[in-house]
Amino acid sequence: MLVIENLHVEVEGKEVLHGINMSILKGETHVIFGKNGSGKTTLLLTLMGFEKYKVTQGKIYFKGKDITNVPMYERARMGMGMAFQRPPAIKGLKTKDILKKIKNVDFSVEDIAKKANFENFLDRDLNWGFSGGELKRSEMAQLLAQNPDFIMLDEPESGVDVENIKLIGKIAAILLEKHKRLKEGRNKSGLIITHTGLILDYIDADKGHVLLDGYLVCTGNPREMFKLIQEEGYERCIKCMMN
Ligand SMILES: Nc1ncnc2c1ncn2[C@@H]1O[C@H](COP(=O)(O)OP(=O)(O)OP(=O)(O)O)[C@@H](O)[C@H]1O
Ligand SMILES: [Mg+2]
Repeated sequence: MLVIENLHVEVEGKEVLHGINMSILKGETHVIFGKNGSGKTTLLLTLMGFEKYKVTQGKIYFKGKDITNVPMYERARMGMGMAFQRPPAIKGLKTKDILKKIKNVDFSVEDIAKKANFENFLDRDLNWGFSGGELKRSEMAQLLAQNPDFIMLDEPESGVDVENIKLIGKIAAILLEKHKRLKEGRNKSGLIITHTGLILDYIDADKGHVLLDGYLVCTGNPREMFKLIQEEGYERCIKCMMN
């Protein structure tokens, strides 16, 4: 689904990612952990094709095609979708209109909103004045409408109340086709950033990665990694990198 080779990324003249390698197979979900400011969001925005994030070295392949220089709208059409850590608000654009425009599924906008506990927001301007948790549900509703093959979630549970974390976890599992077994035709893959690890209870991730200061320092079993980070902090990951 996705191959990242020796990816170096510069933002505003400063190199933030220093040679990332990662490979995500069809049907797999990977999780990224890492301290604030490590470059996690930068990686997702680069994969999505935001122009501010300049690839100075390396390649990104999606579904076998080199997309390193492919524009963002083309990546979205090819099946990439993301939920932002801090989604933009757009005054004058009704939420239901964007959902209709991007909808790639048979069920209605109202059904999508119902799934995301989002019915009361359809007539409001997109993300305008939404609370932290409402923003996250807005992002999930848009992904349900878009139905991408490669799903990137940037801290989907941050700022979300306990009941809605459950809802977001369930939507993530639907998007990632977790009801299908890996070897029985699951077509969706994902890359999810989490600090709290709560999303791990819902999506049964295949691999975890730790990103520190723009370097991928460790890859392994996501649950074991998260437990170690909780117990020993990121210092443990730096040791892993040294070995
Ligand atoms: N547009 C930008 N202009 C200047 N610096 C930027 C820009 N985008 C990212 N950076 C810098 O790049 C570094 C990595 O930022 P990034 O948002 O990718 O971190 P992160 O790992 O997602 O952190 P967090 O866990 O806090 O969300 C930070 O030092 C940040 O200030
Ligand atoms: Mg971030």
